[in-house]
Amino acid sequence: MPDTPQQDSPQQNIAPPDSRLALANRRIVLGVTGGIAAYKSAELIRRLKDLGADVRVVMTPAAQEFITPLTLQALSGNPVHTTLLDTEAEAAMGHIELARWGDLILVAPASADFLARMAHGHGNDLLTTLCLAARCPLAVAPAMNQAMWASRSNQDNIALLQARGIPLFGPAAGEQACGDVGPGRMLEPTELAHLTAGLFPRQLLTGTRITITAGPTREAIDPVRYISNHSSGKMGFALAEAARDAGAQVTLISGPVHLPTPDRVQRIDVVSAQDMYDASLGALKQTDIFIATAAVADFRVENSRNQKIKKQDNSGTIQDGRMTLTLVENPDIVAAVASHSPKPFTVGFAAETQDVENYARQKIARKGLDMIVANDVSRSDIGFNSDQNAVTVIWPDGQQAIDLASKAQIARDLVTLIATHYQQQHKNAR
Ligand code: C5P
Repeated sequence: MPDTPQQDSPQQNIAPPDSRLALANRRIVLGVTGGIAAYKSAELIRRLKDLGADVRVVMTPAAQEFITPLTLQALSGNPVHTTLLDTEAEAAMGHIELARWGDLILVAPASADFLARMAHGHGNDLLTTLCLAARCPLAVAPAMNQAMWASRSNQDNIALLQARGIPLFGPAAGEQACGDVGPGRMLEPTELAHLTAGLFPRQLLTGTRITITAGPTREAIDPVRYISNHSSGKMGFALAEAARDAGAQVTLISGPVHLPTPDRVQRIDVVSAQDMYDASLGALKQTDIFIATAAVADFRVENSRNQKIKKQDNSGTIQDGRMTLTLVENPDIVAAVASHSPKPFTVGFAAETQDVENYARQKIARKGLDMIVANDVSRSDIGFNSDQNAVTVIWPDGQQAIDLASKAQIARDLVTLIATHYQQQHKNAR
């Protein structure tokens, strides 16, 4: 028995802010192997989740002798994976898919037997197979009796793993369950969570919460007709991906578009400008940066009908072959966000056909923006439905052009520029 069960220590909030930032949105496959330290894996899951990670647990058969899959399932909030050749589990998430899902495979506790199998490239259970199939980094937290730890075989295996660059967390020295004293105890969950966070480098927008509006809005005339525009949502979706890749937590508020939700982005679907307004203001508590790429309909139909309007309508809407609709102005979402206190760093878009810079600067002032991305929609090669764009980014005392490129590339450049100005503003505010 490698480890001594101890009383659970009182819950501490030991993780410095950097650990919290580093693990937000990260996916960790936690491998649990057979040893008494497996009981600490339950606490480790909580610590990793507290720091924002999404955790999926894989247990070896021996691990299940020490702690039940049900416990780890309840704590991780995800089904626990236990066998390689289980058709039902494979149908839900195949082992190769699981190996690809993770940003890291952390094996804690890692028994001497598991380390030996890993070192020699075995694939005779789910966890070793995952370690072979993984493209992501691996890390291990050994736990075993001190004599087993010191044994020549084990030390040779450890040397093999270290030569492959696999980080070794611990083991710690101390009293063991069998009464021995020496190295072999698994590190405490809090320290392990910390070391895990340390494996992920800080990115440009790590820990920053970004809300993006995208696509068109639809303003109902009646249950079957609406007023809308040609916005495809591509620019907003590309920005959501670029911001996520820079480490941000992204909420994407989208009007009706035909685009798949980017991985690890929280999407809120809306239809009308009023829906988008409500969702945007509702997201403000969790927003550091707000980017309004949506082509919001400026006007809505004053009294949209509950029933389909007939050609022979006699309510005054249709008369002498003319249909009359009264349109009323929609709320300006980005202006409302920019006048909110506390105000997120607010970025608008300006689609113009002439005098682009001048109109964009006026819009910055009128809407209270920190930055505006202006594009010339009179050009047929860029803009609305195109996969390409070329923009000029304008802020109160400067500007920068981003030349014709894919919307994905423009999005990456924009994210860098937005992050730089946001951080500058923050530094000045401190
Ligand atoms: O005034 P204009 O529509 O040209 O401004 C465009 C910018 O304002 C875009 O960022 C757009 O998403 C935002 N906008 C908004 N709510 C509106 C109209 C525009 O957020 N009702």
